Amino acid sequence: MEKAQETRVRLADDAALAEAVALIRAGQPVAVPTETVYGLAADATSGEAVARIYAAKGRPSFNPLIVHVADRAMAERIARFSGLAARLADAFWPGPLTLVLPLAPAPPVAALATAGLPTVALRMPAHRVMRALMERAGVPLAAPSANRSGAISPTTASHVLASLAGRIPLVLDAGACVQGLESTIIGVHGEALLLHRPGPVHPDAIEDAVGVRPVMRAPEEGICAPGQLASHYAPSKPVQLEVVTPAPDQFLIGFGPVAGHLSLSQAGDLVEAAARLFAALHQADAAPQARIAVAPVPHWGIGLAINDRLRRAAA
Ligand code: TXA
Ligand code: MG
Repeated sequence: MEKAQETRVRLADDAALAEAVALIRAGQPVAVPTETVYGLAADATSGEAVARIYAAKGRPSFNPLIVHVADRAMAERIARFSGLAARLADAFWPGPLTLVLPLAPAPPVAALATAGLPTVALRMPAHRVMRALMERAGVPLAAPSANRSGAISPTTASHVLASLAGRIPLVLDAGACVQGLESTIIGVHGEALLLHRPGPVHPDAIEDAVGVRPVMRAPEEGICAPGQLASHYAPSKPVQLEVVTPAPDQFLIGFGPVAGHLSLSQAGDLVEAAARLFAALHQADAAPQARIAVAPVPHWGIGLAINDRLRRAAA
């Protein structure tokens, strides 16, 4: 597990924001208010920073995270905007609407933030503190709700503290969130819109703004629980787990003492391994070997999430 640390709650003034920016730049997660719920934000361009979000939340699996941006220029470096997507952003950003869009070429976002998917969930928040943090840090921020896995989303700094004390360095406090409910998530598919998650922006408002009514995602293709996302990246080759000595037709992803063709972490560091996981699976998939093998990864801390994802890849 991550070492216990002192968690400080600071009123979100200028000095506290400067400290938060320094922590973000150092790859640490910081709890920050948005207009929906408090988020646990980290540098989305760094796999290790994103891995520390999962480690702090104690999440037993990897889900793609929402990437928060300060402005449209940053958004358009990350994702490709169709005409319809641009109209949605014009109408609702900044605000509690998240758009699922195809990734741009060479996007400045770590594969762990998108769980290796070819799409990304993007949102431009309206809250002044979150906006100030992004503008000053100059990077997109991955930010799920700032609570332990399975707990209720926090709408005050004390909710965050109750859930994450000892696991993160800093909570920026700006009082209660106005919306108190996570953002509406809309997937843009050609001229159709898919409602992935209902939220503060109602389908009626979307239809009024862009003339297209979002359709509810059918339950059979829906996300039932964290990590259950059917569209998760899956390698195209058979995957064998807990392998120390690979067969000649296997590309071995190593860990710790098992070197492999590439290593998730030679030092046996689970945060580093999580950060590299999806990139490693992509690389193994593209390798000449017909099969993929993965070295044993310990089942503690963020290793639980790594193993959950590996079991799905091997299923
Ligand atoms: O209000 C909010 O959106 C809050 C605040 C902090 O901004 N953030 C939030 O983030 O709820 P997060 O990371 O917990 O939301 C993750 C959800 C996933 O469970 C999934 O439903 C959806 O976003 N998601 C992310 N990437 C996706 C993708 N590529 N395709 C479909 N759904 C995606
Ligand atoms: Mg949540």
